[in-house]
Amino acid sequence: MLCTHNNGELTIKNVGMHVKLKGWVSRVRNLGGLIFIDLRDMHGITQIVVHPDNKFYNEATKLRSEYVILAEGEVIKRVSPNKQLKTGEIEVNLTKLDILSTANTPPLIVADETDALEDVRLRYRYLDLRRPVQQNYLLKRNEIVKSIRNTLSDLGFIEVETPILSKSTPEGARDYLVPSRVNPGNFYALPQSPQIYKQLLMISGIEKYYQIAKCFRDEDLRADRQPEFTQVDIEASFISEEDIFGFLEKLFTNLMKDVLGLDIQTPFLRMKYIDALLNYGSDKPDMRFENLISDYSFLIKETIPLFNGKEHVRGVKFSSAKTITRKVIDELTEIAKKNHAEALAFVRFDGNEYSGSIRRNLTDEDLQQLNLEKDDILFLVPGKFEDVSQALGAVRLEVAKRLDLIPENVFKFLWVVDWPLLEYDEEEKRFSAAHHPFTAPQKVEDLKNNPKEALARAYDIVLNGYEIGGGSIRIHNQDVQQLMFETLGLSDEDIKDRFGFFIEALKYGTPPHGGIALGLDRIVMILTNTTNIRDVIAFPKNQNARDIMNQSPSGVDQIQLDELKIKVTKDEKK
Ligand code: AMO
Repeated sequence: MLCTHNNGELTIKNVGMHVKLKGWVSRVRNLGGLIFIDLRDMHGITQIVVHPDNKFYNEATKLRSEYVILAEGEVIKRVSPNKQLKTGEIEVNLTKLDILSTANTPPLIVADETDALEDVRLRYRYLDLRRPVQQNYLLKRNEIVKSIRNTLSDLGFIEVETPILSKSTPEGARDYLVPSRVNPGNFYALPQSPQIYKQLLMISGIEKYYQIAKCFRDEDLRADRQPEFTQVDIEASFISEEDIFGFLEKLFTNLMKDVLGLDIQTPFLRMKYIDALLNYGSDKPDMRFENLISDYSFLIKETIPLFNGKEHVRGVKFSSAKTITRKVIDELTEIAKKNHAEALAFVRFDGNEYSGSIRRNLTDEDLQQLNLEKDDILFLVPGKFEDVSQALGAVRLEVAKRLDLIPENVFKFLWVVDWPLLEYDEEEKRFSAAHHPFTAPQKVEDLKNNPKEALARAYDIVLNGYEIGGGSIRIHNQDVQQLMFETLGLSDEDIKDRFGFFIEALKYGTPPHGGIALGLDRIVMILTNTTNIRDVIAFPKNQNARDIMNQSPSGVDQIQLDELKIKVTKDEKK
């Protein structure tokens, strides 16, 4: 080792010791002849002091931000300690300095507080990752993965890797395709998840499988979505929903203890999908605050034109809502409309008077039924159930943020169960799988006779309003699988082409099985208290699915295209 200590560990106890330190120059200050160097590594910062009579003084004057150095010296007590810093009571009086590497002026400030735009940070990600806050995300991610691996291993799960060059999987997003040189005109698909492989492993007799798996989905990106993300993928045989819940509750209990030192309560709350929609307007309800959505259908009448003739009017109420100004309501209206609302109405009561967008349509009796107390505001949305729910769900969240109703450092886990098995497309007059076509129905008779109402043996796990995982018990009976495909209107040819090998495998003795996949990146996000998934991924893509550091995706050489027998018709190479 080139050094004796890291930059986060020297304290008053080390005074008098001769030490060797390494790292990056975080800051150099020249104060009336004395030079102070903040030396940084991933463990912290140590201050080094250089007096004018030091034989390395000249060398020290050459130091600039981000130079890499080795520094030797004696640990001394600081005259004016810095209480913010773990090493703030000491400094190191330089006796030897080695400049290992110089550095250009960095294009961003390498410190927690940086004013660099995200584009610049991603362009110079290796510098961005020097910032302690960024390193902390990676360290926490490592702890999280370690804890998860320990629990799953203790529970008897074994880690198996599955291919990346693969075939289309049934998750339903667009695939990333990879052309094959050896088989021109043919393409691999990058896996959207290891779904089929893990089910095959069950058929192979691997009773408990897991994998920290890279998944790829070409879909619209959001703050909690990346095209390339990581799942903790889990599958087990001869189990039921209760076993999966048990495994996962153990995993999260250990995880919260290991990483945050928190004891969490089990069993986790369970909620039916329909109740989640009814009360929270979301299939991933944030349970950290109340403010449930209720029915206000009694307001559907001729005297209120906005609501007249609508299927539903539902609403959500907030108290102490004085800070919800007209301007905020305009913003909420935008949010509601983006989430399928026809309109967002509101009524408020200041203790004396009622006001709001539909105030003049409301009778005294209506107002009484609204049951508003001083400083309450009620938001109302008319329309179809799904649209109303989604809009109010979004409004509920946004108002809670504005009113500061969401407590920090509270973690509310929830199982959402009893999902619909199928979705019906009214225009195309056909069903599609709500999860994927291998999800078992709760009742086979329902799949046969009443598919619109059939429920799935599927479950999602939700944490603080994020879907952090989803899974199901799978179909292991060939007849049921066939019935499922028929209901989905898949032709024999479709089935053979997409899943033929899998359907064949099911015929060779399939154990009952089920599993779940957790979104690792989202879990890291929540546990590190960030809302941006890119923060917790070392080298993420930007909102346009580009890596702006290495400029991928990018055009390729004509030779490569020729080898692959690919003709790019439009020249869209960047
Ligand atoms: P699902 O599609 O629900 O299930 O994915 C599981 C979990 O993965 C996370 N996730 C994502 N995270 C970041 N970026 C994305 N683009 C992204 N897409 C999904 C979510 C989600 O809950 N094979 C099934 C699982 C199973 O049935 O066992 C599957 O992939 O947290």
